[in-house]
Amino acid sequence: MKRMKVLVTGSNGLIGSEAVEHFDRQGHEIVGVDNNMRRLFFGAAGDTLWNLERLKGVTKRFTHVALDIRDRTVIEELFRTQRFDLIVHCAAQPSHDKAREIPLPDFEVNALGTINLLEAMRQHSPEAVFVFLSTNKVYGDAPNEIPLVELEKRYDYARVEDFAGIDETCRIDQTMHSLFGASKAAADLVAQEYGRYFHMKVGIFRGGCLTGPAHSGVELHGFLSYMVKVASSGGKYCVFGYKGKQVRDNIHSHDVVRAIEEFAANPRPGEVYNLGGGRANSISVLEAIERIEQVTGRKLDWRYVDEARKGDHICYISNVGKFQSHYPNWKVTRGLDAILEEIIASQRAQLAMHAHAR
Ligand SMILES: NC(=O)c1ccc[n+]([C@@H]2O[C@H](COP(=O)([O-])OP(=O)(O)OC[C@H]3O[C@@H](n4cnc5c(N)ncnc54)[C@H](O)[C@@H]3O)[C@@H](O)[C@H]2O)c1
Repeated sequence: MKRMKVLVTGSNGLIGSEAVEHFDRQGHEIVGVDNNMRRLFFGAAGDTLWNLERLKGVTKRFTHVALDIRDRTVIEELFRTQRFDLIVHCAAQPSHDKAREIPLPDFEVNALGTINLLEAMRQHSPEAVFVFLSTNKVYGDAPNEIPLVELEKRYDYARVEDFAGIDETCRIDQTMHSLFGASKAAADLVAQEYGRYFHMKVGIFRGGCLTGPAHSGVELHGFLSYMVKVASSGGKYCVFGYKGKQVRDNIHSHDVVRAIEEFAANPRPGEVYNLGGGRANSISVLEAIERIEQVTGRKLDWRYVDEARKGDHICYISNVGKFQSHYPNWKVTRGLDAILEEIIASQRAQLAMHAHAR
């Protein structure tokens, strides 16, 4: 195996840290870029330094640099001084709702930060593979136009032909995205262009709900992780609109990184893929509450706010058929129960660590 030099942006975050661990385990050399901006976005609960410390302990060839991807000069310098084989770009302002309070930083991190990286790669490592973590919010609320049925605890697609979920042909314009969806769509299009126009090995993954034990879950981002946090350590969970019957498909960060690995081994320039847990890993908010109460053995204190988040999806299940047809070695390996167990175990360990530190 050729040892690769891998750049992971957002390396303290959920997907970035999983990528660091995975590629480090395989003997590659990893440079992680993360300035802990998640703490600035979401306050102390979003602080990712615990995860950076954890990574330092479990990795062998990992170096971290606290650079800001908005800073073109430092990004250019990073690429001028090191040659990368693979770039996994996970750094982001990741919240749909947060973006309305901080439109400019949101756009600068998501759109400008992405083109800073792509252009630096074009100048200095044009042969590298670049994977951009995009989002299903690039479709705005267009998925809500699909006919739905209301079941006891969830909405679902009414027509059999929609059962497998939303594929990449869903339109991305003339819908309400939230400013986050718009800044990610800008980055998504620019990334496609570096693939199509410059023939660079760029892949775009439009994620459903990505989750896992390394999420620093907060109310505005990371719904399963945050729900488990509230169930285990107290507080009140708010359900916003759609009677709590809104559906999300969830995918474990390990399966996301496995998809990145498959693409890196056989890249297709400019391709766009939906990536999620699919129907088997789909769950509504009401169903998630029930499931989490069962596994934690604790009642979740929650209230209903009769106003949906603007531009929010009612039922979103990712159709991963295109990715699976291009990369038949890939599949979803972790079901919802396994995902929840890992999140719960990780949060218990963090609580114990904090109690010990006190
Ligand atoms: N988690 C999800 O449900 C989900 C769903 C769809 C798409 N995505 C996308 O996947 C990617 C990874 O998401 P995640 O859940 O791991 O998010 P995360 O917030 O856990 O990780 C992102 C990391 O980027 C860092 N960061 C933010 N701004 C930065 C900057 N200017 N410079 C350097 N580092 C910066 C943050 O500190 C954080 O550690 C993001 O692009 C996100 O939009 C996530």
